[in-house]
Amino acid sequence: MPASHKLAPQTDARLGRIVRLLMAHATVVVSGTKIAAEIGTSRSEVWRLVQQLRDLGVDVAGHLSTGYSLKSVPDLLLPDMLAPQLQSTIFGKRIHHYYKIGSTNTVAMEAAGAGAPEGSVFLAEQQTAGRGRGANVWHSARSAGIYCSVLLRPALPPSDALILSLVAGLAVLSAVQEINPKVVPDLKWPNDVLIDGKKFCGILTEMNAEVTRVRHVVVGIGINVNQSTFPADLQAVATSLRLATGTEWSRVELCTALLKSLDREYRGLVENPDAVNSILRRFQERSSSVRGRRVEVEDNVGFEGMTEGLDSRGFLQVRTTQGVRTVLSGTVRPR
Ligand code: BTN
Repeated sequence: MPASHKLAPQTDARLGRIVRLLMAHATVVVSGTKIAAEIGTSRSEVWRLVQQLRDLGVDVAGHLSTGYSLKSVPDLLLPDMLAPQLQSTIFGKRIHHYYKIGSTNTVAMEAAGAGAPEGSVFLAEQQTAGRGRGANVWHSARSAGIYCSVLLRPALPPSDALILSLVAGLAVLSAVQEINPKVVPDLKWPNDVLIDGKKFCGILTEMNAEVTRVRHVVVGIGINVNQSTFPADLQAVATSLRLATGTEWSRVELCTALLKSLDREYRGLVENPDAVNSILRRFQERSSSVRGRRVEVEDNVGFEGMTEGLDSRGFLQVRTTQGVRTVLSGTVRPR
């Protein structure tokens, strides 16, 4: 068992079972005895678990002596809330949920190294060390966003793995539009998703590879969903779906839509090599900046030019005074 699994235990699976039981009897009070019998424990243990649910923000009415009921449908990313809708996907079987963890990408990379299967999903209500590209931090306030990492084992050379970041961006875009077609996200190469020029989603793709073969890839997706404010240093550049639309979003609904569309895109890619062309075409159609935008590229040397689309592996092409250059790493900023 990897070290961080020991340090940050997964959320007790019985919490999800209690929530589902209460949801299935939404209008009535369910006795502690019935819950205890259903999950195979004692009434006093049920009371302790209900207290844990309350700590997670779930609105449970009632008491040991009276029984329990839900006051509202909880928006927690518990496996029991997501898995029933993901059974036809590669993501429905192994969903790991953490109340609080350093980084879902870190735990997913460790689990991958220890042999976890493709399709494993790692979700957290809160990250204390959420990571972005480079040395960036991903602000991960409790139960406000989606902090999700998925483990993939594609048969690809490492030089082709960038396409997985682009696939994840497309999956976020289609999940958001499935829920609210009026929202028009803009993809910023390689891994940001913006609304009105502000970032609401970042993608961190990490891999372990031999020279010619990827062993595993972890795609980490952070979505700002219901944040109503950000730290001062982020306010000018970050937004959330709630800030952009003025309404609260269901994280459960969005996360389900995200994993379904990621499954569709990923299966399309591994089952049909021609899917790459469709991915590149759709990414370019949904990005206002991969073509005809003046940018500066911060890599080892730094250069500037005009964006000229993506090459056949998804790398950004930039026309400079010395000809077209391919951006292999670094940060791309508008000029
Ligand atoms: C970026 O914009 O630089 C990428 C941000 C990626 C954040 C997500 S949140 C889930 C996963 N766990 C992490 O530590 N990072 C990614």
